[in-house]
Amino acid sequence: MGVTFEGYSEIGKEEIEEALNFCCEQILHVLPEFTEKFQNAYSENGFYPPVENRDWTCGFWTGEIWLAYEHCRDERLKAAAEVQVHDFLERIEKKIEVDHHDMGFLYSPSCVAAYKLTGNREGREAGIRAADQLITRYHSVGEFIQAWGPMNAPENYRLIIDCLLNVPLLFWASKETGDEKYREIAEKHIHTAVANVIREDYSTWHTFFFDLETGAPDHGATCQGYRDGSAWARGQAWGVYGLALAYKYTGRKEYIELFRRVTEYFLTHLPQDLVPYWDLEFTDGDDQPRDSSSASIAACGMLEMCKYLEPKEAAHYRGIASRILKSVYDNYAVKDFEISNGLVLHSTYSNHSPYNTCNHYGVDECNIWGDYFYMEALTRMNGDWEMYW
Ligand code: GLY
Repeated sequence: MGVTFEGYSEIGKEEIEEALNFCCEQILHVLPEFTEKFQNAYSENGFYPPVENRDWTCGFWTGEIWLAYEHCRDERLKAAAEVQVHDFLERIEKKIEVDHHDMGFLYSPSCVAAYKLTGNREGREAGIRAADQLITRYHSVGEFIQAWGPMNAPENYRLIIDCLLNVPLLFWASKETGDEKYREIAEKHIHTAVANVIREDYSTWHTFFFDLETGAPDHGATCQGYRDGSAWARGQAWGVYGLALAYKYTGRKEYIELFRRVTEYFLTHLPQDLVPYWDLEFTDGDDQPRDSSSASIAACGMLEMCKYLEPKEAAHYRGIASRILKSVYDNYAVKDFEISNGLVLHSTYSNHSPYNTCNHYGVDECNIWGDYFYMEALTRMNGDWEMYW
């Protein structure tokens, strides 16, 4: 079963409780400022500015509020989340900044969560409309969902590994509506994605291009990783979680083995404190920023996969996830309102290098999904949880 991290301590029950209690306090503390407005994708010197509901990341803030509501049942949280769900419905009705594939990141932790937790009808309606929007980006020739940019633009005729977290919205939409078209597209996209983004050594490509004429696989390329041949830490973490979800929703046994291998690559490239640098090419002493969000995302993926494995192997992954989470809690989590209005420090959104194509922002800051997945991992460790994905 590969790496075990036996020398490291697991996170304790009391620490999980303390951590979730602080998350709830922090969220309640900032809620008046962040009910009509959302937290930005990344903090600036530790503090998120308020923004309108425009970015691909806004659903994570509402998701944090729902997770906090599940933990402490404070009605102020439910009321604020409902305001935001209404805003998400308007956003999809008016098609505001939804010409991209991130409908799952936007609508699963916000609106699907609202529906699953409270039966919120606006949440259901918004989620189904978002699924309808997502399938408009499907190319039936190459059998993939195009991530970004105008459809058929040659410079963006590609999928990205992150989309494995967007397609659960489609499985949910099929279940809700009884219409199989969402599921069929999701399954085809997953199959195309895993067949191409996973390299021979089980590191992963961030993005993968297809031939515009034939739809045949063409080549991999990074956008947010350090360089084309390296493994962007968050991309690898999306792979870990995405494969667990792929198995849950398709039942295809080959995804279990791929999960093991992609996870092993992630784990064998962790530094001493188990929280990766922004690209798995880097380790201790390289003077590079961390991406603490990747640690929490991978922990969530391992905790999800535990549900489908034999007890011994499940305990193995649960133990690793617990040790990673302990390090995030001990070394990265915010524990003082004065230093940040977020939850987890030292995450990296988009770090420009001489060899990649991304802009430079949100480096060594809180990132909103890092906060969300930290809470999700704690919630998963705390007991049974009906997931939003
Ligand atoms: N899905 C975009 C990112 O992980 O930065």
